[in-house]
Amino acid sequence: MKYSAIIILLLFCLGCRQEKVQIKKEDRVEVQNYNEPHRPQFHFTPPSKWMNDPNGMFYYDGEYHLSYQYYPDSTVWGPMHWGHAISKDLVHWDHLPIALYPDSLGLIFSGSTVVDLNNTSGFGSEKNPPMVAAFTHHDLEGEKEGTNDFQKQSIAYSTDKGRSWTKYARNPVIPNLQKIKDFRDPKVVWHEESKKWIMSLAVYDKVQFYSSTNLKDWNFISEFGIEGDDRLWECPDLFPIVVEDEGVTKWVLIVSIQKKAPNGGTATSYFVGDFDGKEFKSNHVKQKWLDWGTDNYAFVTWDNIPKDDGRRIGIGWMSNWQYAQIVPTEVWRSAMTLPRELVLYRDGDDFKLRSSPIKEMESLRESVIPIEPLVIKDTAKIKGAFDPLQCELKLLIDPKKTTASKFGMELSNELGERLIITFDKESDSLTVDRTESSKNKFSDAFYNEVHTAPLTLGETNLDLTIFLDASSIEIFADDGVLNFTNIFFPTEKFSNLSLFSIDGELILEEGKIYPLKNIWTD
Ligand code: FRU
Repeated sequence: MKYSAIIILLLFCLGCRQEKVQIKKEDRVEVQNYNEPHRPQFHFTPPSKWMNDPNGMFYYDGEYHLSYQYYPDSTVWGPMHWGHAISKDLVHWDHLPIALYPDSLGLIFSGSTVVDLNNTSGFGSEKNPPMVAAFTHHDLEGEKEGTNDFQKQSIAYSTDKGRSWTKYARNPVIPNLQKIKDFRDPKVVWHEESKKWIMSLAVYDKVQFYSSTNLKDWNFISEFGIEGDDRLWECPDLFPIVVEDEGVTKWVLIVSIQKKAPNGGTATSYFVGDFDGKEFKSNHVKQKWLDWGTDNYAFVTWDNIPKDDGRRIGIGWMSNWQYAQIVPTEVWRSAMTLPRELVLYRDGDDFKLRSSPIKEMESLRESVIPIEPLVIKDTAKIKGAFDPLQCELKLLIDPKKTTASKFGMELSNELGERLIITFDKESDSLTVDRTESSKNKFSDAFYNEVHTAPLTLGETNLDLTIFLDASSIEIFADDGVLNFTNIFFPTEKFSNLSLFSIDGELILEEGKIYPLKNIWTD
């Protein structure tokens, strides 16, 4: 009797556990044509059709949620919905049905979701805390009629772990009384000291902050901008982060910039400073760039990552508004970057962010192909049984022993299309040249410029982690001090990978290639 009771209890608990993480078969949306040329094999893409910004990201009960700007009827931007996917490891994703549809108040633009653990909103209970999504309602009709208040902030909630969403009956929660056309992308964070929710909102060339005790009633508290910057700001994200090795908490404000990023078009930037529950004060005047490549936009971070994990993890849209809608893909358009862990570190009197691919990516490593230490004069082809467009590379270079003034890596195919990554010791820089990466030049903005970033190639070894996936390269130099993300679309896959040196020798101390599994079929 006793034993059978224990067994029943055990089975019941097992059942509960399963219930927690189960995704009902009928809820799953199948990925279409994941073998389409250019389709990433280990990056998040929508099941099909158009995607832009990541939205509404939260962790709850063993599941990471990722929503995104989604137009399910076309491969170009259109009436925005929130697509939705979940993952247990941030690597493998299951697509769920659309979370939020446009309604009489408008399209569903970017925003965020928080887990309301204390049920401050009253939408759930303390036992079953609600998830509350804040987003921008964009009234297309109002915009067409020439009004100025067509963007407003609204909320929706879920009490079933994000499986279904109910829009709040009294939306919008922040009407656009200032009548500012660009008034959007609410990102909400809990401020423990004042026990309030803080919302950051992109308001043309500034961020405005609002506070609330219940996620429904919001008060304007302050705004932040920088003198002389009249570019459009989008997708802000304010969050606390502990300085590495110091234990001091600083606040980071991420802002995406819609124009004239370092390598053209759109990119994600950040400020480091302090936030007292009312005002954000930056420690520096000019923004810093989170990623120097052209293809990491609208990067924002997950809410409610457990304290014992403690990481600040974010993801960006791996494209650029300059050409996002015309890149040569058919069934789907746009991928996300790899999820990245942000670390705040001290650099003299300054604080900076490092970002690295999350450690969970290691689970995709199929095998390891070591590259023996090499002295490269001119070029050396990297041989081995691996696909150069589905792998992770680790290279350790000694710049002191390297006599070459420039060195780097080239990906190419038999058609002569190539992508060249160059490290220049004289100008202390990294360049990524995709100008000859395809004979099908679908956009001037995409092919005209060589992209560059400052990178000190000094005394210490240069350590590189590079992820290549069908149509993207993500470079993490020196443990993520420099990030560089670019996309490319060769007409035939790049099948050759070589290292090169100019005017001297390149000394490769160590190298490793990890062929990676895909995330859709295993
Ligand atoms: C950024 C953005 C957001 C907006 C969304 C619309 O890429 O312009 O500001 O909410 O895209 O899809």
